[in-house]
Amino acid sequence: IGGKVIDVTPEELRKHNTENDAWMAIRGKVYNVTPYMEYHPGGIAELMRGVGKDGTQLFDEIHRWVNVNSMLEKCYIGQLKSEQFFEK
Ligand code: HEM
Repeated sequence: IGGKVIDVTPEELRKHNTENDAWMAIRGKVYNVTPYMEYHPGGIAELMRGVGKDGTQLFDEIHRWVNVNSMLEKCYIGQLKSEQFFEK
């Protein structure tokens, strides 16, 4: 990983919803959490609950203080484009 940064639509995000192809949006940023899966201290099943979608709320309910940005810097894919953006 470490290629170019892209904008991710919610539709595209939803496609990456499996253990072997797992993307998650947190605070507007989309991460490829696939390589992190087996290292998540809360386990795979818990992490999977937020995969393919905006996991911010789930994330914050458990560990608001965890710094995703620094932890998953290399897994950063791009900004999540809001649905609203396309309605205009
Ligand atoms: C624990 C990171 C997403 C559920 C943890 C811990 C870290 C972490 C560092 C250990 C925290 C500590 O011991 O203080 C991450 C990252 C995530 C993520 C980087 C996103 C990419 C999620 C999601 C859920 C979740 C979406 C789903 C609800 C949990 C649970 C624990 C945990 C249940 C165990 C808490 C405990 O046993 O005290 N996670 N997490 N995590 N995480 Fe996550």
